[in-house]
Amino acid sequence: MSDTSLEFAVPLKGVPETAVIQSNLPVYSAQQREEKIANIKRLLKRENAVLAAHYYTNEDLQMIAEETGGCVSDSLEMARFGNRHSATTLIVAGVKFMGETAKILNPEKRVLMPTLDATCSLDLGCPAKEFSEFCDQHPDHEVVVYANTSAEVKARADWVVTSSIAVKVVSHLMDQDKKILWAPDKHLGHYIERVTGADMALWQGACIVHEEFKARGLGELIAKHPEAAILVHPESPAAVIDIADVVGSTTALIKAAKELPNPSFIVATDNRIFYKMKQEAPNKKFIEAPTAGEGATCKSCAHCPWMEMNGLHNLEAVLESGENEIFVEQDIRKMAHRSTSRMLDFVAH
Ligand code: 13P
Ligand code: SF4
Repeated sequence: MSDTSLEFAVPLKGVPETAVIQSNLPVYSAQQREEKIANIKRLLKRENAVLAAHYYTNEDLQMIAEETGGCVSDSLEMARFGNRHSATTLIVAGVKFMGETAKILNPEKRVLMPTLDATCSLDLGCPAKEFSEFCDQHPDHEVVVYANTSAEVKARADWVVTSSIAVKVVSHLMDQDKKILWAPDKHLGHYIERVTGADMALWQGACIVHEEFKARGLGELIAKHPEAAILVHPESPAAVIDIADVVGSTTALIKAAKELPNPSFIVATDNRIFYKMKQEAPNKKFIEAPTAGEGATCKSCAHCPWMEMNGLHNLEAVLESGENEIFVEQDIRKMAHRSTSRMLDFVAH
């Protein structure tokens, strides 16, 4: 039983469908695509800029980041990379909380994003005012928030964590007999509780992409591919996590794809991760976990609509114009810096 005295499930408004986003993206010929990529590489140099792209962004952006000394990674490594790199401009291809995290950690740098419309259902579903009320109701709790939150929510937190270190941080706090409040992802929260034995006050947010994975359909797929290992991101529902061979952050799942002996993998996370998995394990087969079980039709269909908003067109435009800069108000930034840099210090030790 969770220590949840308040059920905060904020209704989400304006969640786009991935197929609709895709249908509005510009379509380029092979030659136009090559020209855009070459121009983006030139502009990155001109602007003394470096590109950090999340594993869920499209293949072209991941490739450009790799070929220009940027990084393609999970959200923790994106934050660390921006912090260490000497470029004066960081281009963050991902969703808004990733750009804000880069700015919180690097106030002296210019942080630009291909689009400012790319958010996250976890961030959307955890507004700062309601979250603050939730914290007020648990004054004796250590407040731990997932990186997928706004700068204002981070400012109210004691700790910011990503999926790759959430379990370690909560275990560390439990060793100190702390009471813990966790937000916003309920599935990740329940997973942490099960692994660590913690009893946390839980916010009731969810990722619209991972929530669509279906345990029943997954079971049927496993029966067809008994040789496959099952890789699951912990934002997925408990029934899906229960079937997994490996549960972990995007980086942990890629590592498992490379290191496990299985010839094939069923993967319950955003399908853009296959680009990196195929690179790391070229002879292995990757299969999408099902998102449309019986009676259900997927909306994101294993790919985040907000991640899909990042493309060659707006990456090029932002480098040309310098628009879409991320700003975080000074007082909020200072408070959010405390909880966010704590995460980096924790990883460093
Ligand atoms: P990672 O921290 O594993 O990259 O996950 C971020 C995210 O948004 C998952 O949906
Ligand atoms: Fe947010 Fe889910 Fe998209 Fe990740 S995949 S950015 S958690 S909506």
